[in-house]
Amino acid sequence: MIPAKAPHSSSHTASLEAYHERYARSVEDPAAFWADESAALDWFRPADQIMRFDPITAEIAWFTGGKLNVSYNCVDRHAAVDPTRTALIFAANAPGEYRHIPFGELLREVCRFANLLRELGVKKGDRVCLYLPMIPELAFAMLACARVGAVHSVVFAGFSAEALRDRILDAGSAVVVTANEGLRGDKAIALKAIVDKAVLGLDVVKHVLVARHTPAEPHMVPGRDQWLADGLGRQRPYCPVEWMDAEDPLFILYTSGSTGKPKGVLHTTAGYLLYAARTFHYVFDAQPTDIHFCTADIGWVTGHSYILYGPLCNAVPSVMFESTPLYPDASRYWQVVDDLGATILYTAPTALRALMRFGDEPVTRTSRRSLRILGSVGEPINPGVWRWFHDVCGDGRCTVVDTWWQTETGGILISGLPGATPMEPGSATLPFFGVRPLLMDADGREVHGNSSPGHPVSGNLCLAGTWPGQARTIFGDHARFVQTYFSAYPGYYFTGDGCRRDENGNYWITGRVDDVLNVSGHRIGTAEVESALIEHAAVVEAAVVGYPHELKGTGIRAYVVTRADMNASAADLQAQVRIAIGAFAMPDQVILVPGLPKTRSGKIMRRILRKIAEGEREQFGDLATLADPGVVAEILDLCVGL
Ligand code: WTA
Repeated sequence: MIPAKAPHSSSHTASLEAYHERYARSVEDPAAFWADESAALDWFRPADQIMRFDPITAEIAWFTGGKLNVSYNCVDRHAAVDPTRTALIFAANAPGEYRHIPFGELLREVCRFANLLRELGVKKGDRVCLYLPMIPELAFAMLACARVGAVHSVVFAGFSAEALRDRILDAGSAVVVTANEGLRGDKAIALKAIVDKAVLGLDVVKHVLVARHTPAEPHMVPGRDQWLADGLGRQRPYCPVEWMDAEDPLFILYTSGSTGKPKGVLHTTAGYLLYAARTFHYVFDAQPTDIHFCTADIGWVTGHSYILYGPLCNAVPSVMFESTPLYPDASRYWQVVDDLGATILYTAPTALRALMRFGDEPVTRTSRRSLRILGSVGEPINPGVWRWFHDVCGDGRCTVVDTWWQTETGGILISGLPGATPMEPGSATLPFFGVRPLLMDADGREVHGNSSPGHPVSGNLCLAGTWPGQARTIFGDHARFVQTYFSAYPGYYFTGDGCRRDENGNYWITGRVDDVLNVSGHRIGTAEVESALIEHAAVVEAAVVGYPHELKGTGIRAYVVTRADMNASAADLQAQVRIAIGAFAMPDQVILVPGLPKTRSGKIMRRILRKIAEGEREQFGDLATLADPGVVAEILDLCVGL
C-alpha cells in the first residue's frame, strides 16, 4: 500500500473519509446525488425524473424530460466565457508539431461541420460513420454530429474494409467521413482507399467526406465523394444547436462480445455526458490549470470519454496524439508532456510494457515536472509495471489511478481518487460514486465481505443498480442487450470480468471470464477471429484462444484445420484475419492441426486448447470423454518450441 499523495487546497476529494462520506450518500440516494451533480451541465430544460431502471427488461433512463445539447456543453458555453482558452491540442505524428485550437475556433469549426452535415441531409437520429485518424477533424465531426442530433459511429481506423463495411451497414450510415491518409510513425495508411473498398456497391452510403491530411491524391467518386475543406468552405461558422432529449442517442461504438457479430453499444445524451464529465472531474481531480494528455485513440471508448467529452465538458485542454509511443523513439510521450506542460497522462499498461523494455533513460532524459496524475486503463496493470510508472515516470511524486471500466459503462467505475485513496499497485481500488460492485459465485450467489487471511473473496464482477453512463441498448437489438448483460445474474449487470476483493475492500480485476481476449488493451472476441478464419476457402474449422504475452498481455493463438486438397499457410491465415478485422486482431500464432479436441457430441474443448497455449503439457484432466483423445498428443507435438 502506498499512501495517497497529500491533497491540495483545491482537490475535489480531501481525504479517504471525504470519499467514504460522499460514496455513502451516493449509494443511499443515487437520485439525489446525481441530481446535485447534474448542475455541472447546462440544461435547456430541467429533467422531470432523475432515473428509471428495470434490470429485467434493461430499461434504463436518466434525466427524462430534460433537454440539452452535448456540443453546447462542451464548446459554446466555454467559448462564451473565454474564446481564446485552449480546447484541443493536436500533437501531430511529426515530433514537435502542435496545433492549439481555442474554444472560439473550435466553435466555428464545429458549426461549419454541423452545417455541412445538414446540407447533406443529415437529420436528428441519423447515423454518421467516422473513419478517421487522430486529427482535429475527428473531434469537429463528433461534436458536429452532437450539435445537429446525429448519432456518431466512430470506427477505429485500424479496422479493415470488411469490418468497416459491416459497421456502416449495421448502423445504416448514409454519410462516411474519412481522410486521404492516416500517419502512424513511418507509415502512411491509405484510409480513403479502405473506405472505397468498404462502401463498394453499398447503396446506403450517399456521401463520403475526405479530410486532406497528407499530399496524397486519392481516387474520388464524382457525386459521392468530396473534399471536406470544399464542403466546409461553403458553410457559415454559425449553427444553432438541436435541443436534444436527455435520452436521445449520442453515439454508437462497436465492441466485441462472445459471438462473431460486433455489438453496437449505444450511449445517450445527458447520462453519458454527465458521467464522462464527473468521473473526469473527480478521478483526475481536474483543475483549471490542467493540460490533459490521454494517449488512447478516439476510435475506442477511452478516447470518446477522456479525450473528447470529459475534458471538454470541464473546459480542460485535451491533447489529441496522432503518433505512437515509440516514434521516433521511446521518449515520445514524455517529450509531448514537456513540450505541452501536460499535468495528467492517461495511458495503457500495454504501452508501458513496451516502453519499459527501453529502460529508464528515455524517460529520465525528460523533465516531466508538469505531471501530477498518471492514469492506467484497459487491462490489469502488473504491480511491477505500476511501480515503474509511479517511481520512474512519475518520479514517485505523482498519483497513479488505475481506472477500471468498459465501453458499456461509459466512464470509470472503479478507481482511486487523487489525494484520498491509498494506492495499491495492481488494484483499481474503490468504486466511484454511485457505483455498487458485487461478486458472484458460480451458483449465482453474491459473495459477501472482504478477503481475510487464507480466505480470498472473489467471483464474477457484477453491478447493482444503474449509473448515468450506463449503455442503454445494443443498436437494433435490445434482446441481445438483455441477454448479454442482464441474464447471467438476474437483477444485475454482468461485466464479463473476474475480480477479487481484498482485506481492505479494494477490487482487483483478474481478467475476462468470457470468450473475450484483451490484446494490448483491445477487446477481441475469439468467435470473431474464428469466423474470420472460417471465411477462408481452405479452412474447415478453427479454434482461437489467448495465451500470456509479454508485451500484449494476451496473445492470440489459432488452431486451424484446413482442407487436405487446398494449401493455406499460417501466414495466409494471419492475412485472412487482417483482411476481415484488422491487423490488431491478427493471431500471433496459427497452428495447422489435423483435428480439434471435441466431445463425442461435437463440442470443441477449448479448455484443453487454452491449457496447451498456456504451456501445459501433461495435466488436461480426463480426456476419455473426447471423441478422438489422440488428437491432443498430435497438437502438443505441433506446439513444441512455441
Ligand atoms: C479490461 C476500456 C483491469 C476489462 C475502457 C474490461 C481493465 C475491458 C481495466 C473493457 C483496468 C479495462 N484493470 N482490467 N483498469 N480497464 N479493463 O470496453 O477486462 O475496451 O472488461 O473499455 O477491459 O474494455 P473496453
